[in-house]
Amino acid sequence: MNYSQILQKVYTESQAYASKGNIANYIPELSKVNPDQFGVFLQAKNDQHFELGDSQELFSIQSISKVFTLSMAFSLLGENIWKRIGVEPSGSPFNSIVQLEYENGIPRNPFINAGALVIADILLSYLDNPKAELLHFVQELAQDKSITFDPKIAQSEKETGHHNASLVHMLKAHRNINNPCEDVLDFYYYQCSIAMNCKQLAQAFSPYASLIEPFHFSSITLSKSQVKRINAIMLSCGFYDESGEFAFKVGLPGKSGVGGGIIAFHPDKYTIAVWSPKLNKKGNSARGMKALELFTTLSGQSIF
Ligand code: DON
Repeated sequence: MNYSQILQKVYTESQAYASKGNIANYIPELSKVNPDQFGVFLQAKNDQHFELGDSQELFSIQSISKVFTLSMAFSLLGENIWKRIGVEPSGSPFNSIVQLEYENGIPRNPFINAGALVIADILLSYLDNPKAELLHFVQELAQDKSITFDPKIAQSEKETGHHNASLVHMLKAHRNINNPCEDVLDFYYYQCSIAMNCKQLAQAFSPYASLIEPFHFSSITLSKSQVKRINAIMLSCGFYDESGEFAFKVGLPGKSGVGGGIIAFHPDKYTIAVWSPKLNKKGNSARGMKALELFTTLSGQSIF
């Protein structure tokens, strides 16, 4: 497989999408990012890697962090986690509150905001220092101790996060939050503010793609079966109400964030991280989605 040539084509052909979409401005600090950046990093089996563009530029991983926090909570609680959270696609926007009310405070899945808030609550209950432990876990996964939070992004979201505040209060009203709402929100905004680049993300997801085994990082251990389940949720719920379209056009498990990053991977073959800040209407990177569609089409390497 000539990955280098394929990525060059992906870069050129996805340029038509460079002007599409809008940067996330509902978190004011995010709107300060140069919107015209684009990076891609492919981590293949046998330590081969390929990169192009702004692949080493740091960005806010936002909802991609939900995979890391789910991994920690699943490792701590095991199957009991599913008493508080479902595994069905929501078919709704990432911050929707409607479904949560009529489904009695049990979020559809761990990747919509309501689900991630329940996961944050679990970590606050089980860990002495959840922020430090999350950061250590991510640093170990990515094999890079320089990874950290961006407090400006966290503060900016805290100041404007009325939607998330309403979600956490609705969850609390349904007794699915045990800690103070403010503490849950504070942790959630910090997890979303973690700054990483495409290279670090591609490395951090290598254990999910079974390129590195066993799954044991920091104090977090996941069995093969648990990794398989997290990957299944990425496939069915990783892109909110665009998850079906992502499976249809790209055909890989993955996760997006409103910082414009997308991580996707082919078990046993590769991980690929793309970043481009302008988002489509569903909150996923417009050029990033196109780049991944081109990549699996040109390489013929999707899971289907
Ligand atoms: O809660 C929020 O709105 C953001 N911190 C994260 C949303 C997000 O990344 C959705 N992903 N596409």
